[in-house]
Amino acid sequence: MRHGFFITLEGPEGSGKSSQARSLVRTLQRNGRKVTFLRDPGSTALGRALRRALLHTSAELSPLAEALLFIGGRVALVEERVAPALARGRVVVCDRFHDSTIAYQGYGGGVDPAWLDRLGRRAIGGIVPDLTVLLDVPVERGFARLRRRHDRMERKTRRFHHRVRAGYLKLAKCDPRRFVVVDASRSPRAVQRQIELIVLRRIRVLAPSPEPQAPSGR
Ligand code: TMP
Repeated sequence: MRHGFFITLEGPEGSGKSSQARSLVRTLQRNGRKVTFLRDPGSTALGRALRRALLHTSAELSPLAEALLFIGGRVALVEERVAPALARGRVVVCDRFHDSTIAYQGYGGGVDPAWLDRLGRRAIGGIVPDLTVLLDVPVERGFARLRRRHDRMERKTRRFHHRVRAGYLKLAKCDPRRFVVVDASRSPRAVQRQIELIVLRRIRVLAPSPEPQAPSGR
C-alpha cells in the first residue's frame, strides 16, 4: 500500500537537475516533510556498480544492453529503496528514473520506446511517479555548462542528445498530468523557485499533511 509521494527529476545533460534535486530536498525538509533522496542509478550497491560500468566502461554496449542494465538497476532501487520509503509515507525525490531509459535508450538509442516503456514499467511493478519535473535545456547550452571530463553517455553524438531532448519533450506532451516542463536555461535561482512552487502546491493537494487538531472552544 502506497502512502508517500514520488517525485522524479529528469532532463538532458547540463540541465542542472542534480543540484535542483538537492535544493528541493532541503525545501521539503524545511516544510516538515520526511524525504528520501535517491539517484538512479546509484542509490543501491547494484546501482553503484552499474553506474560505474555504464558510464565508465570502455567496452562496447548496445543501446538495448544499456537499457536492460539500467532497468535491472532500477528494479533493485524500487525494491530496496523506493517502495519501502513510499510505504512509510515519505516523500521520495529521485534524480532520474524510468523516463531516462525511454529518452536515452529509446528515443536516443533507437530501441522501440513503446516496447521499452512496457518492459520497464512491468519490471518495476507499476511504480509510477506522482510528479515528474522535466528540466529542459537546449543541447548546446547544456553541454556548455559541463565543465568536467565527459562520461560515456555524454560522449555520444550531439545528434543522439538532440533525440534525447526531443524524446523527453514528447513524453511530457503525452502525459501532461504527471509531467511539468521547466525552462532550465534560466538562472538556477529562478528554476529553483519555480520547482518549489510546483512541488509544494502538488504535495498539498495530493498528499495533505494531517491537519493539526483545532482547539476545542468548549
Ligand atoms: P546522471 O549523471 O544525470 O545521474 O546520469 C547518468 C547518465 O546516464 C546520463 O547521461 C543519463 C544516463 N542514463 C541513461 O542513459 N539511461 C537511464 O535509464 C538512466 C537512469 C540514465
